[in-house]
Amino acid sequence: MFHIILLLTLFGPCVVVKGFMNTELALIFFRGKHLKHNVVLTCSEKKGQVEILKNLTKEKDMVISVKLIKNLDIHGSIVFDYNKAGVVLDVDCVGAEELLIRSRRYRVFDTKTFWLMLHSSNNYGHLFRYVNLNVDSDIKVAYPANDSEISNKKYTIDDVYNQAYEKDGEFKSKEAGFYDTQYGYQVLEKENKYFVRRNLTGVKFRSAVVVPDPIDGSLDDYLRNDRDLELNPLNRFHARLMQYCRDYLNYR
Ligand SMILES: *[C@@H]1O[C@H](CO)[C@@H](O)[C@H](O)[C@H]1NC(C)=O
Ligand SMILES: *[C@@H]1O[C@H](CO)[C@@H](O)[C@H](O)[C@H]1NC(C)=O
Ligand SMILES: *[C@@H]1O[C@H](CO)[C@@H](O)[C@H](O)[C@H]1NC(C)=O
Repeated sequence: MFHIILLLTLFGPCVVVKGFMNTELALIFFRGKHLKHNVVLTCSEKKGQVEILKNLTKEKDMVISVKLIKNLDIHGSIVFDYNKAGVVLDVDCVGAEELLIRSRRYRVFDTKTFWLMLHSSNNYGHLFRYVNLNVDSDIKVAYPANDSEISNKKYTIDDVYNQAYEKDGEFKSKEAGFYDTQYGYQVLEKENKYFVRRNLTGVKFRSAVVVPDPIDGSLDDYLRNDRDLELNPLNRFHARLMQYCRDYLNYR
């Protein structure tokens, strides 16, 4: 009992996670993407929020608001109907995972919302287990490049996505660049996003086929077969189209 109390006392302050914010990185990210509407999501207490806001208002020609992750009104805070928006989210915060999961119900992981998530280490994959990061989403995760360089503020930046969360897609992450105080935000995005993300291994699409007459053999053979093509041309056409796409994109 004594040990437990001691542990709680020792590690108590750690439970109140201050998060992992870097306002310089947030600013350079917003600026680089030419974003006018921006949100920084944090779990800092009032004083921390004021400091973040103070650091961010150095930038005059963009709107940046600072909001608390806890009980965030996602629709009111992140969804900017027709405008591009930038969101910096401190995923080191307690409550960040819950926010990510809650975000599934809104179209916030899309082509016009640019996310930069800050984490204290490269061990962040578990946060995205239940999150629908569509194949068209734009999400970067930044974390300190290695332990020795925290003072130098060097970060590794990964590109993360999931091709089809609801269809058994897998969470993917790949190093995309870095950030440091000397060279700034260095992420090259020369390749087409959809080309880079074209491997849909693991994704399962389901479809229904109605066959007008009883068939011999397997459905697969029937759909690939040219016999009596006039009886069922459309299903066979679709089946072949899907087959070609499947061979190219590796889904099932
Ligand atoms: C705000 O700016 C100061 C001075 O540049 C810096 O030391 C501090 O870490 C910044 N705060 C945050 C939360 O990034
Ligand atoms: C950390 O960075 C330094 C300097 O770039 C490098 O020499 C070292 O190998 C790195 N350590 C790890 C664990 O990556
Ligand atoms: C597609 O991804 C799977 C799983 O990540 C991998 O095993 C396979 O080699 C990849 N295929 C291509 C063509 O890159």
